Formats: sequence, C-alpha cells, structure tokens
Amino acid sequence: MSSVVNDTKIPNNVDLASDKKLQRALEQWQPSFIDWWLQMGPEGFQKDDVWLRTAVGVDSEGWANFGYVKMPDYRWGIFLADEVKDRKIGFGDEMGKAVWKEVPGEHRNTLRRLIVTQGDTEPASVEQQRLLGLTCPSVYDLRNLFQVNVEEGRHLWAMVYLLHSHFGRDGREEAEALLQRRSGDSDKPRILGAFNEPCTNWLSFFMFTYFTDRDGKYQLLALAESAFDPLSRTTRFMLTEEAHHMFVGETGVGRVIERTAQLMKEAGLSGDVRKLGGIDLPTIQKYINLWYSLSLDLFGGEVSSNAAQFFASGLKGRAHEEKEFAEHTALNQTYKMNVMREGKLAEEEVPLRNAMNEVLRDSYVVDCQRGLNKWNRTLEAAGIADRLTLPSRRFHRHQGQFGEVCFTPDGSLITKDEFAARRGEWLPNEADELFLQSLMTKPVYEPGKMANWLAPPARGIKEKPIDYEYVRYDQA
Ligand SMILES: [Fe+2]
Ligand SMILES: [Fe+2]
Repeated sequence: MSSVVNDTKIPNNVDLASDKKLQRALEQWQPSFIDWWLQMGPEGFQKDDVWLRTAVGVDSEGWANFGYVKMPDYRWGIFLADEVKDRKIGFGDEMGKAVWKEVPGEHRNTLRRLIVTQGDTEPASVEQQRLLGLTCPSVYDLRNLFQVNVEEGRHLWAMVYLLHSHFGRDGREEAEALLQRRSGDSDKPRILGAFNEPCTNWLSFFMFTYFTDRDGKYQLLALAESAFDPLSRTTRFMLTEEAHHMFVGETGVGRVIERTAQLMKEAGLSGDVRKLGGIDLPTIQKYINLWYSLSLDLFGGEVSSNAAQFFASGLKGRAHEEKEFAEHTALNQTYKMNVMREGKLAEEEVPLRNAMNEVLRDSYVVDCQRGLNKWNRTLEAAGIADRLTLPSRRFHRHQGQFGEVCFTPDGSLITKDEFAARRGEWLPNEADELFLQSLMTKPVYEPGKMANWLAPPARGIKEKPIDYEYVRYDQA
C-alpha cells in the first residue's frame, strides 16, 4: 500500500517529495488555490470552526479524519487509490495490453481535455453554492454543504495533480485557467452548461447534489476504467468521497418531501402547503425536472464519434466496464435509440461505440430512478396519492439529438411556442423562485433546529447527535 505523507505543505500518497520540480510547481499553485477559495468559496464562514472530514489516506477503513477545522486551513491533499498490480486495459482496441503509467503522445490532447473538463466542474460547483450558507436550514445541513465544498476543492487538486505531473507546461497553464473561469460568467464561464446555472436555494442544492453530483459519479466511473492508470487511480478514490455528496442530495430531497407530506396532512390534503410554509409537490417536481434535464446534458450527444474514439483508444470506458459487461470491444454491435430524423422522432440502430454517451446515460437514469422510488415510498407511507417522476430524457435538453427541439415532460414532441407557453408549468418560474426565497430568507444557526420546510435527518454525522454544534458560528 502507498504510504501517506501528511506533515508537508501538501498531504499526499504519491511521494511528492521525490519529485522536487513537481512539488515546487504544486506549492506555487497552492496560494492561487487559496486565493480562489477565499474569493469564491463559502461566503461568510471562512473564520468559523467546521466539523469536517479530511481525507488522510486511501485505506478503505479509516481513510478520513473528522474534526474542527477552519475551511481555509483545510488539508487539501493528493490521494490516488492503490495501484492494481499488472492492471491491463479492459476494453477497446488496446484491450489486454498493460495500462499506461505515462501519457501516450497520440492521446495527449484528448486526455488533457478530459481531465480539464472534469477538473472544471469541481470549483464550478463551489462557486454555484457559495452563498447558500447564509440561508442554511440547519447547522447539520450547513456542515454538509461545506463538506461537499471542501471535497470539490480536493477533486480540483486531484485533477491539477494530473495536469502538473503529466502534461508539462500546457498542464500548468490549464491548472491556472481552472482558477480563472467562473461559474455563470459571460466572459469566462465554466466549460459545461449545468455548472453555469445558478444554484440559489437549498432545494436546488439538494437537487444538484442528487442529480448533478451523480453525473459526476458516472463520469468518474467511466474514467476509473481508463487505460491511463494515474487517472483511473485518482478517480477511483474521488468516488469514495462523492458518495457522501449524493447522500446529501438524496436525504435532503427526501427530508423536504417528508416535511411536505406532514404539512399536507395538516392542511387536509387539498389545502395549500405553501401557506403552512412548506414546499408543495408541484414545485418539487419542477426542480426535479430542471436539475435532471440539465444533468442529462452533461453526458453529451447520443451519437458521438468522440465517445467512440474515447472507447476505442481506452481513455474512457462504460460504468463498471469489467463487472457489468461480458464483451469489451463493442465492435460489430449496435444500440437502438431514439433520434431526430427530418424533424420527427425515430428509432435507429447506431454502432455501439458511437452510442457510449447514451449507454452511460442509461446507467445514470436507472440510478436516478432509485431515489425517486424511495421518495415516493415516503409519500405512499403518508397516505398521499401523488407521485414524483423523472421526466422523459428528451425533455428540456440543450445537447445532442433533442437539443434543438422541444418535448413535454412525458416525451411528446411539441413546438417551441408550445414549450414557451407551458414552460412555467414544468420548470421553476419566477414565482416559484421568489416563493423559495421567501421561505429561506433567514438562516437557522441554532444546533438541532430545522427550518420549517425541512424534516430533521434520521441521524447525525459519524455518530454525532443531530444537535451537535457542527459549525461553531462566530456571530461577531
Ligand atoms: Fe467532485
Ligand atoms: Fe461531488
């Protein structure tokens, strides 16, 4: 197992000290990262003690420490999952050959692009969430927000390490640029659409961590299969941390629904939950529609020669390529999918390699549905007949086959005018946003207390009670 060095400027298990040049370069990047964090990280809490988990190794038991830390002092480190001995490329044209420890020249640009695109999402989400602490529904949730934020910061470190260690000067320039783009900025936006969308309230935050972090999971699973071994090892460890982010989303939305169900019963089912200070189910459905569709776009076009190339050359596999698929070349096979042909919806057989984005999206959709089922069980248990659903994957898309056309949430083709006229029924409108804002004007900083629109969690973090002082908030 790799040994961990925790007492240097940059905690790591990659023996950074043995490569002085790399160490110096990363130590030079570090102050820029901290500047970025102070500027774009959680607003208003940089001086407070937050009870956080910090990765200190990659051992499946005990890979993290928990304790109070001021966020700017967080020990962002570089951790790669342990090397798999004699690991072979598991798919594509190079299948069976030894994995690459260095970047092959012919794949250099493509790999750099993949790493930069993944890396860019990490600081982007911190930027999107930077004001949420000011309206937190509880100290428990505040802590979870910050946990997600610092770990996205660490994921940025993970990608920057690869850029610095394997891509020379270009890599260093890309690492700088990762700190210069800004979510939602019109001049220098983040690379991917969903990461430029505003995340202005806690319902969006829970939806984001459920749907958008889950896209992250699938991208990381696909990269974990990569023939470029350092990328595979980095992403495998990132997945360990990512699980908590999706937990925050799944339980967060679940608690909103639980509280809504209680209020619906109080209101007498036909009553107006909003009047009781809860979030009504139609509003919840609209936010599901929004963040699910934005996240579906992140998988890219349904038919993609890039995706075919990534698979052929071993750069990016399918999720759980080894475990879940019997055949790994994906040659001489087709995949049946919906496409647009002459303005109409049609079914087409596409060469499997060209359908790899869609195959990954399929796994994602199944995984998303699991949470929906769970949330619906909460409604069922409360005796409420309404159900929440995932909209059709054609609804509200900006990429690929359905990017230029409009569909209803149940997948029927409609005109752009019809869509525009009904948009506010399906996606959050201004009134919905204002309503959520009105619910979330004041933060709840008293340990154990919850905002009215949210049920308490089932338990606290790491055996601490729910009313633990997860953030020692300095009111001064
Ligand atoms: Fe991440
Ligand atoms: Fe995440």
